Amino acid sequence: MNDRVMLICPLCGQPLKGTEKSFVCKNHHSFDVARQGYLHLLPVQNKHSLSPGDAKEMLAARRRFLDTGKYRPICQSVCEAVRHYTSVPNPLLVDIGCGEGYYTAAFERECGADCVGIDIAKDGVRMSCARSKQAAWIVATASHIPVADHSVDVVTAMFSLLLQEEYARILKKGGCVVEVTVGSQHLIELKEIIYDEVFEQHKHPEKCGKHFIETECVRHTYTTVLNNAQLKDLLLMTPHFWRIHQERRAMLEQTDRLELTVDYWVRVLRAV
Ligand SMILES: C[S@@+](CC[C@H](N)C(=O)[O-])C[C@H]1O[C@@H](n2cnc3c(N)ncnc32)[C@H](O)[C@@H]1O
Repeated sequence: MNDRVMLICPLCGQPLKGTEKSFVCKNHHSFDVARQGYLHLLPVQNKHSLSPGDAKEMLAARRRFLDTGKYRPICQSVCEAVRHYTSVPNPLLVDIGCGEGYYTAAFERECGADCVGIDIAKDGVRMSCARSKQAAWIVATASHIPVADHSVDVVTAMFSLLLQEEYARILKKGGCVVEVTVGSQHLIELKEIIYDEVFEQHKHPEKCGKHFIETECVRHTYTTVLNNAQLKDLLLMTPHFWRIHQERRAMLEQTDRLELTVDYWVRVLRAV
């Protein structure tokens, strides 16, 4: 675990001191490092279900899909924003809802960041360990991030949660949140196959609260062509998978090629 990461106990909030094998606070709450290298800092009272977060099959589909490079432009836009808005050469970055670690590992490689990937889904964090040995991978909830107050330079939230109070707590003054959310035309061609009617949703990132100043908010769109296997993976990694009717799924299973719109917002919030 990187020494720069100031972990706190998820039970009592005291600093956690670690060895290669385990972490412990002064109240003797102790947490073992898993064989794969991640830490489980999600107390049962913050779990809310037996296996919270994305399921194993969704995560595996996400990994296959992201590894095709079809969302690479999204990753590049965020890396540019991180490089542009942080003045330190090796920012300490916490990626919230890191999934299977695709973006977190890219932030480490391409922004020189020391990264902490946090997700409530243990399977995602476990898979993430294979993406980087240097990053700190932690099972935890975004609503109680086990990281000390004002100790990190950047928080990223890729298609994830925006919990402004909590992100402001862990960010240093002047640090920033880089957030990616979907635009109204995102995957519109896929939605047109899945649903009888697609209602235009005027999606725009939610308001920035008192802890932040909105520094940048840019919409990006591009198109990409997917083959049958990529389409199936994309469906499986989105919530549409649970809503699609049998006959529409059969239709998609027969689709060999689909040109899709990717539409997303990149927003940067600076902590004041
Ligand atoms: C849409 S996925 C995005 C994953 C990843 N950022 C990506 O773009 O590939 C949202 C992720 O947030 C995680 N998640 C959901 N609720 C969470 C919470 N309360 N705390 C931490 N992670 C959470 C899910 O398990 C899932 O991996």
